[in-house]
Amino acid sequence: MSRRQRRRKPAERGVVDIADLASNARGVGHVDGKAVKSCTMLAVAAKGAEVTTIEGIGSAESLHPMQQAFHENHGLQCGFCTPGMVMSAIELVEKNPNPSEQDVREGLEGNICRCTGYHNIVKSVQAGAQKMGV
Ligand code: FES
Repeated sequence: MSRRQRRRKPAERGVVDIADLASNARGVGHVDGKAVKSCTMLAVAAKGAEVTTIEGIGSAESLHPMQQAFHENHGLQCGFCTPGMVMSAIELVEKNPNPSEQDVREGLEGNICRCTGYHNIVKSVQAGAQKMGV
């Protein structure tokens, strides 16, 4: 818990804990298993829901299969876009275990990287789908 969080009233901590996560502040999280862009949902709307961010799907010692696939296929970009790409990719693969290139491109629509192309990201998602074995 950060110093800023400790200064808040206990009733505010749940919202602060979610809002302070780097990935959630600028990306995609899962709310009750559905990928949601954090900028389009008020924190209070998630009250009582199960919220999962990139921090909750793996660890440095044990990456989620999709994270591992991004690592192995050079799909990792910056901390701004990658968490959202990974979280959206997991939901995409849970719905479509064997996505085509077009499926991946459409599934990641709205996840924007302004710096590079999406070739390695698409490759990563398809590799992640194989690793997840849904
Ligand atoms: S590398 Fe993340 S926005 Fe471009």
